[in-house]
Amino acid sequence: MNPVSYRPEAGIAWITIDYPPVNAMSLAVRDGLLKAVRAAEADNHTRGIILCAGRTFVAGGDISEFGHPPQEPHLPDVYNVLEASQITWLAAMHGTVLGGGLELAMACDFRIADPNTRFGLPEVSLGLVPGAGGTQRIPRLVGVELAVDLTTSGRMIKAPEFLQAGGLDRLVEGDLATAAIEFMNTAGDAPQRVSERQIAPISDDYFTSQKPKVVKAAKGAAAPLHNLDAVQWATQTPFNEGQPRERALHLQLRDSEQSVALRHAFFAERAVSKPKILTGSNARDFSHITIVGGGLMGTGIAAACLNAGLQVHILEVDDAAASAAQQRTGKLLEGALQRGKISQQQFDEQGAGLTSGTDYRAAAKTDIAIEAVVEDLQVKRKVFQSLAQHMSSEAIIATNTSYINPLEISEGVSNPSRIVGLHFFSPAHIMKLLEIINTPDTSGEVLATAFAFAKKLRKIGALSGICDGFIGNRMLAAYRRQSDYLLADGATPQQIDSAIRDFGLPMGPYELQDLTGLQIGWANRKRLAPTRDPAQRYIPIADKLCEQGRFGQRSGSGWYRYESGSRTPIADPAVDEIITQWADRQGTQRREFSAQQIQQSLLAVLANEGACILQEGIAERALDIDMVKIHGYGYPRWRGGPMHTAEQLGVDVIKATLAEVTAQSPDSWTIAEIYQ
Ligand code: COA
Repeated sequence: MNPVSYRPEAGIAWITIDYPPVNAMSLAVRDGLLKAVRAAEADNHTRGIILCAGRTFVAGGDISEFGHPPQEPHLPDVYNVLEASQITWLAAMHGTVLGGGLELAMACDFRIADPNTRFGLPEVSLGLVPGAGGTQRIPRLVGVELAVDLTTSGRMIKAPEFLQAGGLDRLVEGDLATAAIEFMNTAGDAPQRVSERQIAPISDDYFTSQKPKVVKAAKGAAAPLHNLDAVQWATQTPFNEGQPRERALHLQLRDSEQSVALRHAFFAERAVSKPKILTGSNARDFSHITIVGGGLMGTGIAAACLNAGLQVHILEVDDAAASAAQQRTGKLLEGALQRGKISQQQFDEQGAGLTSGTDYRAAAKTDIAIEAVVEDLQVKRKVFQSLAQHMSSEAIIATNTSYINPLEISEGVSNPSRIVGLHFFSPAHIMKLLEIINTPDTSGEVLATAFAFAKKLRKIGALSGICDGFIGNRMLAAYRRQSDYLLADGATPQQIDSAIRDFGLPMGPYELQDLTGLQIGWANRKRLAPTRDPAQRYIPIADKLCEQGRFGQRSGSGWYRYESGSRTPIADPAVDEIITQWADRQGTQRREFSAQQIQQSLLAVLANEGACILQEGIAERALDIDMVKIHGYGYPRWRGGPMHTAEQLGVDVIKATLAEVTAQSPDSWTIAEIYQ
């Protein structure tokens, strides 16, 4: 079927783009559109064209084509031909008008849209600049400031705001097609083409003053600055010079490591919710959620569920705890209201969906119960048994444990096919990741429901099998272990933290431990001590800090010290002393590590742990691991996740680095098959 149809009607013709799922500007669409433009030009009766689309207006270039050489007709050429034609073009839009879609709209003479339409130039989030005139037309249409905002952030703006900025001619309540005809019949002469418009003057130092802000917000990504530069060209050169320059940069960036990584992340974010194991399974409906435990985690989960429009009941040990939990959740909703994330009406509705109490009988009509109590097997077991006693034997019982095997928690509970792990990350109403832990007994329907639940909460659900720490915390443990080996052998906490920040994570391992507190890790190490391989190198420096009451920021000191009331880590000679004294006693020859050595060795252990996780079948695909690290642990999206980075570096580089890592700490690492 032709994705672009041309239908002439008394002087006005319709061109409709219908190429599911999102009308991306694939080769067939570009070709079809160019042919339609030619047909309209050849048709003497056509004076105007209404350009519209199927499920949504065009949502951009076809990202899946970006890894291949570009094929004619190229997008900017099609739009330039369209803009130069003598016919009057009206873009009648709904849905999401993104990237190549907005570029198409800007090549038209008029633009009208349904009020719910959203507009954006998200190429920056794919490591690119727009490739079909986006950065050159947008400042000519809506001014430099909004142009810089949209192109460097990639954010979407809603139709009313776009109208106000001059991006649209009209908002259409009601039928878009009828309004489009009426508009064309009364519009009069077409205004000056966008590409020929003058840009409103802006102060000389505007771009210089924007640069540091853009670099800061980019957190290591290169594309935001490229977009800023490209918008600046529009202020300095005519369109016919700026546009080819933008195109050349777009093509160059397509081959950049960052763009390849960001495209990997884009497709992985969509593939992660479709693991093979779900094939043939359908999710159940759910509306009532019970959360056991109203602490930091439980209330964060409650807020996330309420934000998604679900009914929530929090179970606590006594009335005081129950009402405290309810209040804490209410505070989180208030925060969302204050930040403009939800309206007053949503706030009221969500608040009304929350109840709390102490009686497990309230769980009787729950669809999904989530236990979020202390990380203690016996306590969790008791919670599961109480839930099972009162819930229907089909209803889902989930644990939010970070480490404990869900099979042990659910021992003795009837119908094990309804047991699943739902591992949230703190703060649970904000963090995007939800690890979904599959036990050997979990049914396909329950797993599918867990994924539907993640989607409902607008989270990224990633499937993990059972192992200590599941995917995320197991990877974290390997990364921390290697950090400690580096520390023991000569690096300082500051050097490691700064190397990791330079790599693109928001924080290094030691400042992060100080922020979250050292107690949990300490308890975990004690838990694992009896089963730890005695041959494995063990660095007790964190234990020594804990023994001295250095638990991190909240106790005033940890890996760093903190001045009262401040969160800024200050290097502490006392910590260096603890490290060097211990290393001396061990007879360790301390040496220098460069930032690159630190980064590469930590990446190598992550890649190796990930490869072991894959080999053991804990993760189905490397992309699941990448999504866990990006959305739960701050791994830079523009690096695509550790498995992707490792693949880009190549097996030989990782192998060579792992050889150094194992020479540094013999008998301490299991090396995955692919790196042997
Ligand atoms: N090129 C190729 N494929 C695209 C695409 C694009 N520009 N935009 C979306 N898709 C694909 C997705 O990969 C997904 O495929 P799948 O079903 O095989 O997983 C499918 O279209 C639906 O996309 P999805 O994101 O799941 O749908 P949605 O309704 O939630 O969101 C959009 C729709 C358009 C908002 C979202 O897909 C999006 O932001 N797309 C990217 C837009 C963009 O960056 N454009 C500029 C490109 S230079």
